[in-house]
Amino acid sequence: MAAPLENQPFKRKGDKENSEFFEKYLLEIYKKRKAQGLEKLIGHIHHFLIQVELGNAKDLIAEKLLHTPFSYHSSFEHEAFRYHILRVSEQNPDLLIREPKVELNDNFYHLNMIAPKGRTLPHTRYIGEAFGVSDLKQVYQILYNQNQVQFQEELAENPAKHSTSWTHPSTFTNNCIGYIEYASGEKHYQKDNDWNFDDETIAKFKLAKDMFKTFSLEQYVGPIDHFATRVYCHDREHAILEYLSLSNYWFWGAYNIGDQNSSTNVCRNLQGLPESQSPAKVFTANNTPFYVNHIDNLPCPTENFVRNYGRRLHHIAYGVKDGFIGAEENNYKNVDYVVDQLKKAHMKFLDHVIGSCEEGLKQIFSQKSKSSLLITEYIQRCDQFDGFFTKENVAALTQAAGLDDLIT
Ligand SMILES: [Fe+2]
Repeated sequence: MAAPLENQPFKRKGDKENSEFFEKYLLEIYKKRKAQGLEKLIGHIHHFLIQVELGNAKDLIAEKLLHTPFSYHSSFEHEAFRYHILRVSEQNPDLLIREPKVELNDNFYHLNMIAPKGRTLPHTRYIGEAFGVSDLKQVYQILYNQNQVQFQEELAENPAKHSTSWTHPSTFTNNCIGYIEYASGEKHYQKDNDWNFDDETIAKFKLAKDMFKTFSLEQYVGPIDHFATRVYCHDREHAILEYLSLSNYWFWGAYNIGDQNSSTNVCRNLQGLPESQSPAKVFTANNTPFYVNHIDNLPCPTENFVRNYGRRLHHIAYGVKDGFIGAEENNYKNVDYVVDQLKKAHMKFLDHVIGSCEEGLKQIFSQKSKSSLLITEYIQRCDQFDGFFTKENVAALTQAAGLDDLIT
C-alpha cells in the first residue's frame, strides 16, 4: 500500500498501485493548488448538472422526486436551454436538469454520437458538478491564465452575478467542472426568464413526492453519498490528477477489484462534516484494456460500458440511514425496506441488496434511468463503518451492471 503522504490530511487507503508519475504529480498538484490559493477559493459543490432530451425532463424529475430526497424548486430559461432546479436543502448541492430547447450540434451531441449506445439519446448525459467559489474572477484567472484550463466561454469583464463558468469536457472523463460565486444562504442562478410546467405535470410531481413520503422514505434516504464516473484504463491516473487540479478534493485511495478486471478510485473532499455537502467522487477503470480480453479471458464490465456509452458518469448513490426495522433477529435493514417500498412503486433493480452489516455495508444498483441513462445506488453503512466500501460489494455491483449492459 502507498505510504501516507505528508501533505494529505489522512492515511491513504487501497491496494491498487499507482505509477511513479502519479505519485509525483499528486504531490505537485496539492502543493501548487495550495500555493495558488485554489484550495481556499473553492468551496463545496454548489450543484450537479444533468442534460436530457427535450421533453424528458419531467420524467426524470418525477423519478428523482419518488426515488430521492430532492424536491422540485422551480424552472428557468436561457436562450438555448431550459433548467429545472431540484433541491434537498441549502447545505446540499442542488441537482439541475437541463433540456435543450432546440436541436443542438454541440460538443455533448458529438460525444454521444460516437458511442454506439450513447447515440440513442444524443443530448443526454451528465454534464458535471459546479463548485461554489468565493471569487470567480480569481479562480478563472488562476485556472485559465496560469494553468491553461480551457473553458466553454471566456469570462466576461463583469460576469453576471450568478453565472456558472464551465470547463470544456475533460479529455479523460468527458465531464465538465463548473465554478459559480457563492458564499452561503439560498442558491440563485443567472437566468433570462422564469418558466413553468403545466398544472398536470405539477400534480404528477406532487404525487411522486407524496409517494416518497407515504412510504416513509424521507426518514431513511439521505442526500447524495457519492457519484461514480467510468473511464478507459489508460486514462485512470490522468482523470484523477486532472480532477484534483481543478477542485479541492483529495485522492483517498484506489482498490483493485481483480476478478472484475477493474479498480475503484475514490476522491473525497473532507472540508468538514457532513460530507454530503461535497460527496465523494469515484473513478472506475479497467485494469487491462478491452483488446486483450480475448487473451486474458477476464470480464470487462467497466470498459464495455465506456465503449458503448462513452466516457461518462455511471451512477449517483444516495446514503440510507443506518438501522433496522422490526425485531433485530429478522435482520431487515433500512436499505432492504427502502428497496421493497420502491419496488412497490415499480422501480427496477439490477440485483438483490448486496453485502451485509457484518461486512460493514449494504448497497444496491437500480436499472438505468430511461431519461438520464444513470443508475441510482442506495448505500447503508452499518455501525459507523469507517471504510468507504467493501471490495466484495463493488465486485458484485460491477458484475451486475456489466450483465445489464450486455442485455440492454
Ligand atoms: Fe457506488
